Amino acid sequence: VSADHDFHLRAGAAGDVNRVLAFWAEAAENASRPSDDPAAVVGLLNHDSGALVVAEANGAVVGSLISGWDGWRFHLYRLAVLPSWRGRGVARALLNQAERRCAASSGKRVDAMVLDDNSAGVQFWRAAGYHRQDDWRRWVKAFDG
Ligand SMILES: CC(C)(COP(=O)(O)OP(=O)(O)OC[C@H]1O[C@@H](n2cnc3c(N)ncnc32)[C@H](O)[C@@H]1OP(=O)(O)O)[C@@H](O)C(=O)NCCC(=O)NCCS
Repeated sequence: VSADHDFHLRAGAAGDVNRVLAFWAEAAENASRPSDDPAAVVGLLNHDSGALVVAEANGAVVGSLISGWDGWRFHLYRLAVLPSWRGRGVARALLNQAERRCAASSGKRVDAMVLDDNSAGVQFWRAAGYHRQDDWRRWVKAFDG
């Protein structure tokens, strides 16, 4: 029998798409990014079935992390933990698993985008050994369709 503070990690699957979207709406950093839709998450899973990892507890999604491997670098997205589950090592466990995936590939670097004013995010990434690169800015162009 699991204690109520127990969680486990598993690969997200097509059947999780709607609840992962609902989880992100509640738990993720949602400023400054394109909106989500089910087709985008299904597209991710079809591209790389190991990219989305969820933390699950008592049948509910309590954490998530996407590790995107594009054949060249690893990019981390959608690190989020349900507010009531924060401070218990869920994010660190998700990141450890993603970093193992990175280490097993030929990727030389892993990165994450962190809003400057996201204090919990900044402190989490710093504690995990990441540092901010001040000599770069991300240049983007959005595509609508
Ligand atoms: C950032 C976030 C993912 C952290 O998740 P978490 O499961 O609470 O983090 P962990 O418990 O694994 O924390 C690991 C370490 O990160 C640091 N850390 C995490 N949250 C912190 C906070 N709010 N303040 C200070 N340090 C923090 C600590 O060093 C912590 O180690 P400790 O507990 O031994 O002190 C969570 O706060 C969250 O979902 N925030 C909203 C979404 C978001 O901003 N995601 C990040 C986008 S870049």
